[in-house]
Amino acid sequence: RIAGPCAVVLFGVTGDLARKKLLPAIYDLAGRGLLPAGFSLVGFGRRPWSDEDFTEYVREAVEGHARTPFSEEVWQELADGLRFVSGAFDDDEAFDTLTATLAEVEESRGTGGNHAFYLSIPPNAFPVVCRQLQRSGLAGDGRDASEADGPWRRVVIEKPFGHDLASARELNDIVEGVFPPDAIFRIDHYLGKETVQNILALRFANQMFEPLWNANHVDHVQITMAEDIGIGGRAGYYDGIGAARDVIQNHLLQLLALTAMEEPLSFGAEHLRAEKQKVLEATRLAGPVAKATARGVYGPGWQGGEPVPGYAEEEGVSASSTTETYAALALAVDTRRWAGVPFYLRTGKRLAKRVTEVAVVFKPAPHHPFGADATEELGANAVVIRIQPDEGVTIRFGAKVPGAAFEVRDVSMDFGYGRSFMQSSPEAYERLILDVLLGDPPLFPRHEEVESSWRILDPVTAAWQRSGTKPERYAAGGWGPSSADELLARDGRSWRLP
Ligand code: BG6
Repeated sequence: RIAGPCAVVLFGVTGDLARKKLLPAIYDLAGRGLLPAGFSLVGFGRRPWSDEDFTEYVREAVEGHARTPFSEEVWQELADGLRFVSGAFDDDEAFDTLTATLAEVEESRGTGGNHAFYLSIPPNAFPVVCRQLQRSGLAGDGRDASEADGPWRRVVIEKPFGHDLASARELNDIVEGVFPPDAIFRIDHYLGKETVQNILALRFANQMFEPLWNANHVDHVQITMAEDIGIGGRAGYYDGIGAARDVIQNHLLQLLALTAMEEPLSFGAEHLRAEKQKVLEATRLAGPVAKATARGVYGPGWQGGEPVPGYAEEEGVSASSTTETYAALALAVDTRRWAGVPFYLRTGKRLAKRVTEVAVVFKPAPHHPFGADATEELGANAVVIRIQPDEGVTIRFGAKVPGAAFEVRDVSMDFGYGRSFMQSSPEAYERLILDVLLGDPPLFPRHEEVESSWRILDPVTAAWQRSGTKPERYAAGGWGPSSADELLARDGRSWRLP
């Protein structure tokens, strides 16, 4: 799968995401020979840069963050197609220059007039950029790609897609007023991860899991996304957003959807998204906000032997901030398959370690012929999908402890990507950018999914805000606030220690 001739226009080139992920991913695609000959990358931003300045900036980003070893040959090929257009988003003239630049690369590099506009910018800038792309004629004629012959135009939108349901709808209306639905690629980079896609393989390519994957056998599901890092220099984005909007609304709810959905008719975009959407529509908070959620904010502490500041001390965080850096929710999925099975979601910054996993925890066996003493050390059976960093799947079950007595203890069986497959996985962004260039939409959520996720979250963030209280403080390097433990304890359960 090699992309055809095209140019990518990147808005937000100087942002963290572009520098650390997008530019390196584009280089990695080039390094793996997946970009078309004559590919062109056009940066758009306010800096008064020349093409040479931009080239130097991209080179630094690539050398610092790309995964493929740096090769002068690959770099030169990519560098030849780099252009920079300097201007503000509301500057008509700058967009006219962009139009001229794209015409120039079509001529000189053979990009075929196929353009992907990558909006790695804050959502309040989407409307003006969309309007400019429409005004300048760059957005195309609004017809569906399937109807249109001739060059394609696509738009790629980074999260956050709004900050609640109402703002997400507004943004959708604006973007869909300019681009047809099949030209809009909403990024949730978790869907680009191999281990996330593997949830589908595990469930639907095998016979041994799916018969147990329901309320008859599953006690509950725990989805954890723990990070050891703090917010670093991202206060400008993060403060006022918080953990629930930053990652639960998108990454964690997508993990829930893939774990809980029914088998799609096919893995084509329409069928896959329809099943995810159905399950998100059926998902709600499992009780009142005070009982079914917990939130926290990290205080100072130690990590990796170093003292680290608390959230309130991070540069750029407002003194009156009530932003949470930890959030946990108990959700219910109102379908026949999942009735009565809680889905517990948690995420936090500055936790004990970086780990993302989906743990499907099973009910105890209905009867133990060995007696309570013998099974004292037997935990609950579980299938743990290890999303990162130690990618794989663990199955936990009981086994007899060697010896004359009959004791049963928890053991685990492991599948690890590194051990089973020789090739390394592509970075999530590499996969997603390639899919945009190929026009392959299954891994991009539709606007209905985005809206359903906000519908689930809105009552939570609204209640937290109404309360006017600050989140509970937790020590950096631990597992979050005690209210999160109480959330599960109320149901007679506890969080796993990944
Ligand atoms: C981003 C969030 O979407 O995901 C960040 O905005 C978070 O706050 C990041 O750190 C985590 O991504 P990953 O791929 O490292 O788990």
